[in-house]
This record gives sequence, structure tokens and C-alpha cells, in this order.
Amino acid sequence: MNPISEASIREACLPGNANERGNIPGAQPNLSVDEILAEIERIADLPLEQSTTLPPQAYTDEAFFNWEVNNLFKNDWFCLAHISQIQNIGDFINVDPFGEPLIIIRDKDNEIQVLSRVCPHRAMDIMPPGFGYDGHTMATPSEGNPGCGNTRFLLCPYHFWTFELDGNLKACAEMGQAEDFKRDEWSLKSFRSEVWNGFIFVNLDGNAPRSVAEQYAELNEDVSPWDLASMELIAANEWDCNFNWKVLTENFMESYHHAGAHSKTLQTMMPARDTWTEIEKPFHIRCHLPLKDSLREEIRKMESEGKLWDTFPPVPNLPEEKRMSWGLIMGFPLFTCVTTADSFIWYRILPMGTDRLKLLTTILVPKGSTKLPDFEERRDQANEAGINFHLEDMEVCMAVQRGLYAAGYQRGRLSHLEMPVWLIQRFLAARSRDTWPTFDRDPAPGQI
Ligand code: FES
Ligand SMILES: [Fe+2]
Repeated sequence: MNPISEASIREACLPGNANERGNIPGAQPNLSVDEILAEIERIADLPLEQSTTLPPQAYTDEAFFNWEVNNLFKNDWFCLAHISQIQNIGDFINVDPFGEPLIIIRDKDNEIQVLSRVCPHRAMDIMPPGFGYDGHTMATPSEGNPGCGNTRFLLCPYHFWTFELDGNLKACAEMGQAEDFKRDEWSLKSFRSEVWNGFIFVNLDGNAPRSVAEQYAELNEDVSPWDLASMELIAANEWDCNFNWKVLTENFMESYHHAGAHSKTLQTMMPARDTWTEIEKPFHIRCHLPLKDSLREEIRKMESEGKLWDTFPPVPNLPEEKRMSWGLIMGFPLFTCVTTADSFIWYRILPMGTDRLKLLTTILVPKGSTKLPDFEERRDQANEAGINFHLEDMEVCMAVQRGLYAAGYQRGRLSHLEMPVWLIQRFLAARSRDTWPTFDRDPAPGQI
């Protein structure tokens, strides 16, 4: 078998190549959005033991994707960045979720602002992607933060209207003859945002019924030992992916595939058989991937000799079980993370279409770890390890998306180890009923 390389995966993701492989709709019957939702609601009510995969149209139908954008994403919280990426006044990064050009910037009062980049004059994107403006790539503080821009004010390149860092219009030439024109009425639009544990979230439609803090209260307790707000983002990799966001989140959350796709990597540390999922919750899914016993012994032995088993020193004060396992988190709808003994891995998944998404894979570590004399070496090692097992997932996800378009696709049955796949279905079904999991159904029992 050929080893998977980063170059071959990136090559395979190029749009031309994706089309050549044949993501062509038409092999599966057309279903209306209502029909797709009805089928999802039906299967989500089956017990896990009877569960089956989603209808293929849920991954390939454009109208259904639009339903998801409006009913799952724009009306809920989307995580844009971590505060360590914009540490100084005037630091900014640009992100374009769901067609909305945004700038995330630290203003003069040290407040984080999430502003529209659309100029209130004639709608120009003040820093359009692809034209060499700062802030469009991967802001990584540990690398001198090359992807982060810094500015004293915001300037629209079209007619040079100038804005303060909080979005207020500061100057605009030759507007004296515009009747009733009041400068303070023409700010960059500000979006509802919230910083939770150092992560910056936006709610695009402004109507999410809860704050992030309310929504993720239970998660807050769970992740508190990592002290996420004080962590630093040390590595980020951008990926263009030609598969549906659910192909990725299902893959991210179930560990059954350790036995297959990761048989030489993760399976040797965290065998699929030992992984388990917590009781169903309204706003997130939580899975546990215990390290196998022989590894725990090895770790304890190394630690007793003053050596490190992980790349970085363990996060201080982690409870034993959290130190001896990996954790998977999916905060609905798209906040996906892995907890490890020495780091917190955050995936920013940005759906772009039925079979397209932009992915940012990141690693965060406690600030103390960035001060180690050989930090850069360790960071590169951690990053390379992360990329290597991510590539194994990329290959699988691409090939799954292709299968979903084929006439040969059969709706499959799920293993109990795929409980998170079923929980994602139950989330979709609940949102289809305009509620959240466990609000109008009994919570599905946990596996331990
Ligand atoms: S469109 Fe921005 S200044 Fe005219
Ligand atoms: Fe995986």
C-alpha cells in the first residue's frame, strides 16, 4: 500500500481532481428537504442497536445544505478563533463564515470585536481574500503570528472611508453635500459575539436563544482543568476538503475507525473497543478514548524517571482519568475538539457547500510549554504527528463522500462504538423539530 502523503492528499482535494473522481449527483433519487428531514427524524428515534446511516441526500443535496446553514449554523454559535491569536491592540484576523466577511479585532479598549468587513458606503469588502491583505491565513502566535494582521485603523480601499478599531466611522472625504449624512450612523456592522474559555464565537443572525456560556455550561466544567483561556495556539494547518461537514464530524467523533484507518497509529494507543460515549446531552457530545493499560504503566514509569511520554509536559493538575485518556468534544453545531494530557486540539470546520468545507486544524498548549528551551522542536513534532493521523482521516472522508454519490451506496448499520454518529442524527432530528436533543425525548443512556 502506498503511504499517504500530505502532498497527495492536498492534490486529491483540488476541485478538478475531485470532479474527476466523480462527485456527480443523480445516482440517488431526488428528495425534498422535508422528505430528508422526515427520514432523519425516523431513524434518529430508532434505538442505537437498530440505527442506520443517514440518507445520502443529507450529504449531497444543495437545498438540504441550505436548510442546515439557516437552521443549524447561522442561528447558532460558530467558533472563529482563539484569543491568543490576537493578543495586542489592533491585532486582527479575517474569517468568512457562511458567506459573511468578518474581521475579528482587538480594539483600543482591549475588547474583542467581531465586525463585518462590508463597507457601509458601497459594500466593498475592506480586505477581500486573495488580494494580499493580512489576517487571511493561519494566525499562530508561536511562529511570530504571521497570519495575524495589526493596524491602527481600518481603511476601505475603494473610497478611503476610515474606521476605528471598534468599527466606528472616523473619516470620509467629500460627503459634505450628502443631505442628513451623519458620520456616527455609518459604522461597520457589529455581530453578536462572545468569548468563552478564550474561544471567540459569533452568532450571525443575532437570535441564538442562549449565550455560549449557558449553552456550554456543562462542557465548561468538563474542560476547566485545561484552563483554555490561558492556553496559546501554537500550530494551525489549513485544509480544503471536498466532503460534507457531517462526513467529517462523524469521522471526528467515532473511534470505531481506530481499528481501520488508524490501525498503525491511534489504535495502538487507544483501541476502538475501549472507547465510549457519555449520556446524551442537549448541546454537546462527549466521548472518551482511554489509553490502554500497558501504555499507562509505561507513562507512569517514564514519569517516575523524570521523563516525558507526551511531546509536552502534562497540563498541570489534570485529574488522573483525563490525563490517561483522550477526549472528543462536539459542541453543537460545529465546535469540535480533542483533549489530551498535554494539549487541546481545536478543529474549525467551516462548511462551504454539500461537498466542500474549509478546515483549520490547531493545537493549543499551556503558556508554560511555549517557554521550554526546545519548544520549537516539540511544536514541530506535535504538529507533524497531528498532520499524520489527520491525513488518514482525510483519505477516508474523501472516499466516503464519493461513495455517497454512487448508485451502489447502501444505507449501513452502525456499531455501538459509533454512538456519536447516531447522536449527531439525533441532533439533526431535534433541530428539525425546532428543539434540542433531550428536550422532548429521554436522553440516550451513556456507555459507562
Ligand atoms: S465602498 Fe468603502 S469607501 Fe466606498
Ligand atoms: Fe480519525
